[in-house]
Amino acid sequence: RAFAEETQAPLASLEAIKQSAGACTRCPLHAGATQAVFGEGPKDAALMLVGEQPGDQEDLAGRPFVGPAGQLLDQALKDAGIARSEAYVTNAVKHFKYEPRGKRRIHKKPNAGEVSACRWWLDAEIAEVRPQLIVALGATAGLSLFGRQVSVMKERGQIFESAQGRVLLTVHPSYLLRLPPEERAREYGRFVADLAIAARVLS
Ligand code: URA
Repeated sequence: RAFAEETQAPLASLEAIKQSAGACTRCPLHAGATQAVFGEGPKDAALMLVGEQPGDQEDLAGRPFVGPAGQLLDQALKDAGIARSEAYVTNAVKHFKYEPRGKRRIHKKPNAGEVSACRWWLDAEIAEVRPQLIVALGATAGLSLFGRQVSVMKERGQIFESAQGRVLLTVHPSYLLRLPPEERAREYGRFVADLAIAARVLS
């Protein structure tokens, strides 16, 4: 980073932004969630990963991508030669949206209004971390970062110049979890190949 940029005081620290996000009522999702799940990772990460929203386990743990999708993501990052500990990992939407079904909480996709309301927080994270590359994991992250509907299957594996900087689009790891085993193995390989593009761009 340029010296001039470094000497400018940041508007607020990531920690301060996280505190404010914890009290966010910009959309109704805060009402049903346990807590806001903010991003985590090094403040100067070159790579930022953006998912959709916290799932059941993330909502309880208060950390992004710690459940089944997170485990798959961890493995894929490793296979692509990326250390998760060096990436800043976050979501387009910070509160878990679900439908209660008996004792279970079933994931519900955030709508465009909720994604747009939560852009405030994602923008703040991007402004603080200033990553060299953002990986959008799936359509919701794509919608948030590009401000339009994306066709993940057609546009994946490409790097776009967005208002937020360079963004590589790929699938969401939960998509892989829903596939039958054979297809999953093939799609996992494609997912790792997309992430390897990010690794190459950053090396
Ligand atoms: N899916 C996401 O998009 N984000 C998480 O943090 C967990 C699951």
